[in-house]
Amino acid sequence: MSVVIRRATRNDVPAILAIYNDAVATTTATWDHGPVTLDDRLARFDAAQANGWALLVAEQAGRVVGWGAWAPFRAKAGWSKTMEHSVYLAPDARGAGMGRLIMEALIDAARAYGVHVLIGVLDASNEASVRLHERLGFVEVARMPQAGFKFGRWLDATFVQMILDADAPPA
Ligand SMILES: CC(C)(COP(=O)(O)OP(=O)(O)OC[C@H]1O[C@@H](n2cnc3c(N)ncnc32)[C@H](O)[C@@H]1OP(=O)(O)O)[C@@H](O)C(=O)NCCC(=O)NCCS
Repeated sequence: MSVVIRRATRNDVPAILAIYNDAVATTTATWDHGPVTLDDRLARFDAAQANGWALLVAEQAGRVVGWGAWAPFRAKAGWSKTMEHSVYLAPDARGAGMGRLIMEALIDAARAYGVHVLIGVLDASNEASVRLHERLGFVEVARMPQAGFKFGRWLDATFVQMILDADAPPA
């Protein structure tokens, strides 16, 4: 069944929230321990809209089955060309190549915006995410043993990075 990757609208935010909160409850992909609120996700949507940061959804048969986004990694001016991305699929949409489609669209949007570096902060035990990033050409640049915890165990963080335009001048 065909999938459309498109910019999110405000009406998509409840579906984005539901996909995220399912991952909060059932996975170590995110280290939130409890559900986030609709207001939190609406605020992120508004910030993305106002600043031109990517917030994309994957739609299949009229249903939002995944989303991806990037936003500043850190706030200071010198970090303004470095964005951190996220990608989340509904459980029944995983393992079918949709993560790659969303990531490719996020990378395209980042290039168009003038992003220099994309960073992913992954749970090192998240095999699907680690593999997805490797296949796209992201490189592991840091590993932080036992930097987090969830479901009663310590978790390692893996930072992966892609430089989008290595020859661009710093400006
Ligand atoms: C991580 C996630 C985005 C990956 O997207 P996906 O569409 O399921 O993955 P894809 O089908 O594009 O597969 C990408 C690669 O990972 C591999 N892969 C997929 N699921 C896997 C799994 N459970 N274990 C190991 N490898 C896996 C695929 O085989 C593929 O590798 P290949 O190109 O060598 O065949 C998706 O599984 C997801 O939303 N998971 C829950 C939330 C999450 O972990 N988000 C990432 C936070 S950093």
